[in-house]
Amino acid sequence: MKNSEFSNLVKEIQEDVIAWRRHLHKYPELSFQEESTAQFIYETLQSFENLEVLRPTKTSVMARLIGKHPGKTLAIRADIDALPIQEENSLSFSSIYPGVMHACGHDGHTAILLGTAQILSTLQDQIKGEVRFLFQHAEELAPGGAVEMVQAGVMEGVDMIIGTHLWSPLEIGKIGVATGPVMASPDTFSINITGQGGHAGLPHQTVDAIAIGAQVVSNLQYIVSRNVDPLDTLVLSITKFAGGSAMNIISGSVEIAGTVRLFKTELRPTIHGLMERIVKGIVEAHGASYVLTYNEGVHPVVNDKEVTRVIEETVCELWGDEALALMKPSMGAEDFSAFQIKAPGTYFFTGSGNKEKGTDYPHHHPRFNIDENALSNGINMFVHAAFKLLN
Ligand code: NI
Repeated sequence: MKNSEFSNLVKEIQEDVIAWRRHLHKYPELSFQEESTAQFIYETLQSFENLEVLRPTKTSVMARLIGKHPGKTLAIRADIDALPIQEENSLSFSSIYPGVMHACGHDGHTAILLGTAQILSTLQDQIKGEVRFLFQHAEELAPGGAVEMVQAGVMEGVDMIIGTHLWSPLEIGKIGVATGPVMASPDTFSINITGQGGHAGLPHQTVDAIAIGAQVVSNLQYIVSRNVDPLDTLVLSITKFAGGSAMNIISGSVEIAGTVRLFKTELRPTIHGLMERIVKGIVEAHGASYVLTYNEGVHPVVNDKEVTRVIEETVCELWGDEALALMKPSMGAEDFSAFQIKAPGTYFFTGSGNKEKGTDYPHHHPRFNIDENALSNGINMFVHAAFKLLN
C-alpha cells in the first residue's frame, strides 16, 4: 500500500476521531479513576474488526492485532487520564466535571490511537507480526500506570514501542524527534527538621528550625553548582518550605520538599549521599535532628537510535524535511520509560500549537487546547511507522 492510500484512510475517519476526542474531553477522569474512559475505549475497539481487546488493569485497555504474516511485535502507547484543573475554555465540548480537565492532550492521544487501531485493523492481511495498542491509565500521577501495565504483562513478546505527545509549544504540522535522552527521571525528596520551639524574644532557649532549614536550602544548591560534573544535566529544586505558626513563636519544626531531575540514573546514589551529608552536617551543627526521605521516580525516557531513525524517515516521507523538528531534551518526566525498559522505543512530539486557533497555551494550563488537525497527523505517523517498523 502506498503512503497516499494510507493518508486517504486517515482522512475517511477524521470526523469520527474528532468526535471521540471531544467526547473524551467532555468527560475527563483523573488518574487511576478512568473507568468510563476505559469502557469507552473498550467498546470503541470492540466495534472494529480483527482485534482481541483486553483489560490488563482496572482502568487500562489493550488491543492485539495479529497480522496475517509472521513477524515482530510493535506496541503503540497512548495515555488516557486527565488533570485536577478547572477548565477555562468555552467549547461546546468543555469538561462537564468541575475541577477536572484534559489539559495535557491525553484525550487527543486516546483518539489518535483509536483511529490508528481502526485503520490497521482493516489492513490485517498486509501486516507482518503483531501490533499491540496500549491505552495507559494514570500517566499524571506517580507511580504512574505504565509500571502496572508492564507488571500485568502487556510488554511480553514486544520488540519495539512507540508513543507520541501532542505538543502545544510545537507548531501544527511539525513532528519533534530526538535520539537518546528525551525526558528526565523525576525523583522526589522530603526533609523534616526538628529543633525546639519557643518564645520569639528568647531565641537562646530554642533550636530554630526555620533558621536551620534556610541553611539547608542554600547549601543544597551547591550539589548542582559544585559537586556534579557540569556536563551531567541535573536539577535540584526545593518546591516546599513549611513551618511556623505565628509572629512571636520560634518554630520547632520545618518541612522541606522538592525534586531531583536527572538523565543518568547512576548519579542517583551520589546525589542522595550528598544531600544526606549536607543536611546532616548543618542540622547537627545547630543541635537539631532530621529525617530525609528520597524516592526514586520513573526512569528517564531514552529514545532508541534505530526506531528514532524510522520515525524521522516517516516524517520526511509524509511531509518533507521541513516538518521534522529536532527536539532538545526536557527535564519534564514521562512514565513511557517503563515500557522502554522492556523494549527499545521512541517517544516523539506531535505539534498541536496554532496561535490563530488559540491552541498555543502551555500544557496543564486551564485554557489548554489542541489544533484538531494534529489528530490526523498523529494517526498518519503511527500507521506509516507501524508498517515501516514491521514490514
Ligand atoms: Ni501529558
